Amino acid sequence: MKLVVLISGRGSNLNAILDAALPVEIAAVISNRPTADGLTLARRRGIATHALDHTQYPNRADFDAALMALIDNYQPDGVVLAGYMRILTDAFVEHYSGRLINIHPSLLPSFPGIHTHARALAEGVRVHGCTVHFVTPQLDHGPIIVQAAVPVRADDTPDSLAARVLAAEHQVLPQAIRWWAAGRLVVQNDGRVNLRDADGSEQALLIYG
Ligand code: GAR
Repeated sequence: MKLVVLISGRGSNLNAILDAALPVEIAAVISNRPTADGLTLARRRGIATHALDHTQYPNRADFDAALMALIDNYQPDGVVLAGYMRILTDAFVEHYSGRLINIHPSLLPSFPGIHTHARALAEGVRVHGCTVHFVTPQLDHGPIIVQAAVPVRADDTPDSLAARVLAAEHQVLPQAIRWWAAGRLVVQNDGRVNLRDADGSEQALLIYG
């Protein structure tokens, strides 16, 4: 399976994907922010990188069209949003329908959008986590592939909670890609994802920390 990974910053999820030595080819890493540390990380690992600066485009549609053209040069089987922080146009999402997955730092459908950890703390939830899902036009919705749950501790700050969730992200994103590359993710008509040929030991929920 050939993948293109989109990032916007640090790239720790990208790093986790690379460290997992998955049976996939990461053909390119693209960031909408030229200064993203994840680009340096990818370059050091010998992966083709591109910075496509969204501030240089007059609108979202033009930027996404350029991004699509860049991605499609690589003819990937899938595109992974690994900390990609731009809202996508419907045209982009539809173009990669069924070939686009995202990691989001909450237990969706709770806390779509940004500032998920601060919002989880403000709501007083006892369980927080992260979700890997197929991307559909509705922001941070779409068929759920795998989730990780982490406890929220009484003394948590947004940063301490984010760190606990991030460690879980680094487990579930490689896992989701491994299943995807093996052709084991079946999206049912009702929008739920089945894991084909799962044995009893395989869980699409990780309880972490
Ligand atoms: C991760 O926590 C990821 O879940 C989140 O951005 C962070 C990127 O970290 N993504 C989103 O919020 C997408 N809406 P990383 O660059 O170190 O992987």
